Amino acid sequence: MRIRSTLAGLALATLLASPVLAQSGMTVGFSQVGSESGWRAAETSVTREEAKKRGIDLKFADAQQKQENQIKAIRSFVAQGVDAILLAPVVATGWDQVLEEAKDADIPVVLLDRNIETKDDSLYLTAVTSDQVHEGKVAGDYLVGQVGSKPCKVVELQGTTGSSPAIARKKGFEEAIAGKSNITLARSQTGDFTRTKGKEVMESFIKAENGGKDICAVYAHNDDMAVGAIQAIKEAGLKPGTDIMVVSIDAVPDIFQAMANGEANATVELTPNMAGPAFDALEAYKKDGKEPPKWIQTESKLYTQADDPKGVMEAKKGMGY
Ligand code: AHR
Repeated sequence: MRIRSTLAGLALATLLASPVLAQSGMTVGFSQVGSESGWRAAETSVTREEAKKRGIDLKFADAQQKQENQIKAIRSFVAQGVDAILLAPVVATGWDQVLEEAKDADIPVVLLDRNIETKDDSLYLTAVTSDQVHEGKVAGDYLVGQVGSKPCKVVELQGTTGSSPAIARKKGFEEAIAGKSNITLARSQTGDFTRTKGKEVMESFIKAENGGKDICAVYAHNDDMAVGAIQAIKEAGLKPGTDIMVVSIDAVPDIFQAMANGEANATVELTPNMAGPAFDALEAYKKDGKEPPKWIQTESKLYTQADDPKGVMEAKKGMGY
């Protein structure tokens, strides 16, 4: 009898010490942009996994790229009385009112992967994002280094109009090529972060630029648009990566495949694991009232064809991809 109760006590002690019970028990609403890119799908899957590991009840809402859907989702999370909200904001402006409603209900909001423009930064607890201007600058610096003093006409595929990465990645790239009179940004249009639109817009650039023969490089704000552009370049009878350089941002497996094939030149990595640091911050805040820094910055790393693209691609599997 005594042995049995000692064993039961031991089992309970082991369980209490295990991560399964070291759980927050929080309910968190997640308003996601949509599923426009491979990176976005990976972020969604990493967030679900992180929530599961921590015993967080994640309420997921896919906004299908529409701000009004995100506003509705936030209001519904507030009505449900969630403990916290994760918001990946599709565009940068227009959030103040709904975030005030969350603040009035005492629900902390963490911004994921994109920033907002507001005069009142008390409307969110923290933002887990990369330095998006820096990403554009890294991509631009790479291109400048490759081009040297040769003349180079660049075309740009922008992300979703009004989104913080589209604004910042354009700015960073322009900073990198500023003062380089041999490099011109000839055309720039949104491809909405999708493969299909990236391809369509690249086709129109190719048509307008002597069948693509006048284009020296394409800079895409994400890999999915770059993959669409690669397709368009091939269909125009040119060699992506050689006739037209391809530089982009995200570091998804498909771009490493393209780099391994010599069809893409470089990408700047954006981690899909925004939820890990976000949940860490929320758990500390809920437990001890510890305010996180206003910006939790994730790393940006450049990968080129020289960085064993096949090996990196393999390593990426299981990181949400
Ligand atoms: O906000 C991050 C960006 O959004 C990623 O670079 C892009 O792939 C996604 O759509």
